[in-house]
Amino acid sequence: MPDHDPSKRAATLRELLQRHAHAYYVLDAPQIPDAEYDRLFQELQAIEAAHPELRTPDSPTQRVLGQVLDGFAPVRHAVPMLSIRTETDTTASGALAFDARVRRELELDDAAPPVEYAAELKFDGLAINLRYEHGVLVQAATRGDGEKGEDVTQNIRTIAQIPLRLRGVAAPVLEVRGEVYMRRDEFEALNERQRALIAQGARNEKTFVNPRNAAAGAVRQLDPAIAARRPLSFFAYGLGDVQGWEVPATHSALLDALAAMGVPVCADRAVVQGADGLVAFHRAIGAKRDALPFDIDGVVYKVNSRALQQRLGFVSREPRWAVAHKYPAQEQMTVVRAIEIQVGRTGKLTPVAKLEPVFVGGTTVSNATLHNEDETRRKDVRVGDTVIVRRAGDVIPEVVGVVSEPSIVPAAPSAAPRPRVRGEPFDLYKQLDGKCPICASAITREEGEVDWRCSGGLYCPAQRKQAILHYAQRRALDIEGLGDKLVEQLVDSGLIRTLPDLYTLRLEQLSALDRMGDKSALNLLERLQSSKRTTLARFLYGLGIRHVGETTAKDLARHFGKLDRVMNASVEQLLEVNDVGPVVAQSIRTFFEQAHNREVVEQLRAAGLAWDEHEGAAVEAAPTPLAGKTFVLTGTLPTLSRDQAKDRIEAAGGKVSGSVSKKTHFVVAGDEAGTKLDKARELGVPVLDEAGLLALLAPAAHR
Ligand code: IVH
Repeated sequence: MPDHDPSKRAATLRELLQRHAHAYYVLDAPQIPDAEYDRLFQELQAIEAAHPELRTPDSPTQRVLGQVLDGFAPVRHAVPMLSIRTETDTTASGALAFDARVRRELELDDAAPPVEYAAELKFDGLAINLRYEHGVLVQAATRGDGEKGEDVTQNIRTIAQIPLRLRGVAAPVLEVRGEVYMRRDEFEALNERQRALIAQGARNEKTFVNPRNAAAGAVRQLDPAIAARRPLSFFAYGLGDVQGWEVPATHSALLDALAAMGVPVCADRAVVQGADGLVAFHRAIGAKRDALPFDIDGVVYKVNSRALQQRLGFVSREPRWAVAHKYPAQEQMTVVRAIEIQVGRTGKLTPVAKLEPVFVGGTTVSNATLHNEDETRRKDVRVGDTVIVRRAGDVIPEVVGVVSEPSIVPAAPSAAPRPRVRGEPFDLYKQLDGKCPICASAITREEGEVDWRCSGGLYCPAQRKQAILHYAQRRALDIEGLGDKLVEQLVDSGLIRTLPDLYTLRLEQLSALDRMGDKSALNLLERLQSSKRTTLARFLYGLGIRHVGETTAKDLARHFGKLDRVMNASVEQLLEVNDVGPVVAQSIRTFFEQAHNREVVEQLRAAGLAWDEHEGAAVEAAPTPLAGKTFVLTGTLPTLSRDQAKDRIEAAGGKVSGSVSKKTHFVVAGDEAGTKLDKARELGVPVLDEAGLLALLAPAAHR
């Protein structure tokens, strides 16, 4: 809770800011997000503005922070490295306010033409001064406290982008200032390598919270060999000490000149006119912020003309001619209320932190992904912890890490009291008692995999849509027309809960759906009907058992021959199948161990799903109850097509002939049977309907 006594609060804030600034600037291990630091800083500034007597000489508001670490030689800057004023109003009015201030200072009236500005990005790294003497890089220094920094020449020399000799310029002194930063992809790769080192038992390694910390750590790494392995980049944005070189008349021309010398200068910059130009630049960069390969936290506007810059001058160590205009912070601090586990469409279980709602990246966030169990444990996120949440663009908000020492930051007005006790270390299996939170099926995590999964694929409501789409695939049950949109509707309207429900759909239910006429409804019903006649391999594949692709499904069908045998096979028996290893065997076993999955299979069989079964690979010869029998087909059968009927008769050892004779054993007649039926009656050949045929086939077929 904020102290009501301003003098006590100011003292508390000074102490906090000093501690966090030390953690940030000196230790490269920030404990709170920048936005939080800024907020505390502004709170102190406000108190000091209202009560000037509380402003102490050691207040963080009175100087630029940072101090020299033991390991590096101190460097006194020939020209102090200043900072710029930050416009925290992230809307367009931030730019309007700056332009208005500039115009007022320059005493321009409304009739005067717009001021010309150089607009550029505000890179999120650390400031470096590169000193070139006679065109040669002689020293690189950090900003430090602005007056005195650290000599990091060795490390900076490892940055390939930074020229060791300037192209075409040999001035006695030319100091180039800019930002050392790390690209996001390089940052991710670095953390990946760090994780691997930690996994191998490296004690002194750690992962980094964000690219800026990784960059700062690398620049201030005492061992340049390690620094060299941390891929850094650089953009120039200004000058320090200059002797014997004529500085161009505008900032934009200066950047062009630096680029011509071989110094990296960011291409995302523009010369714009007046407030409108600034607003348009802020908006344009805001739109592409997330697509940039590196982090920025805002844009910087600078009065382009050096002459005007000189007229504007400085106030309290900040130039009046420049301002940083921020974007909404992508990282914020909040408290974890609970850790829940979500079930994805594919059964993947994801731990999700339920947060005290916080405004970050432009929206209010109350859930953030913890990715998986290993990540959660690595970061050691627990209920009650204060964490840093990151939301960049459309990316799902994530918990970046735990704030190890939550400060006595005043809670947001809406914040509920924080739990005092930390929760238990995260254990996904224990938390769920081994059961899917949606359907209670067993959860599994395979060796070498990071994700836990629900094994109730067919039954689990979270996986319904995915399961149906998989089942309907051409290579599975081949139900044409049963696509994404339709499945969405069928499930959302409650018409379908599990796969067997597909076979209870009625015409009027279907035609009542969006974009579904009578004709397509009828077509779908027909497709569903014909999907019932399938193969064991397709059926097994259609069940969507994890790791059971088409080929494995075929191998299983060939090996076991009958569904019941697959369902009841032990892991050992499964391992006898071609190409089935322990992971696949266990996955099949687990699937059929789930009562719910078996139930769905039984319901599908009851709905009329059928295929030919045989005795499996061990018994080569298929049963041939119709051996030596000749059949003739005529008319349209209710469910079987002519080809299907023929296939099945032949599979059972029978023959199908085109014309009826005394040698014909059976005529199978459907609707609109023609002269073949008359002939059969004439010759006294037995006539069967479809049901009669199926009965004959029964010993060979499932039903
Ligand atoms: S100009 C006198 N331009 O932001 C003006 N600074 O407080 C000196 N920064 O620590 C700064 N991008 O490291 C300038 N395009 C840019 C910048 C930039 C990032 C950093 C700089 C400094 C802070 C400004």
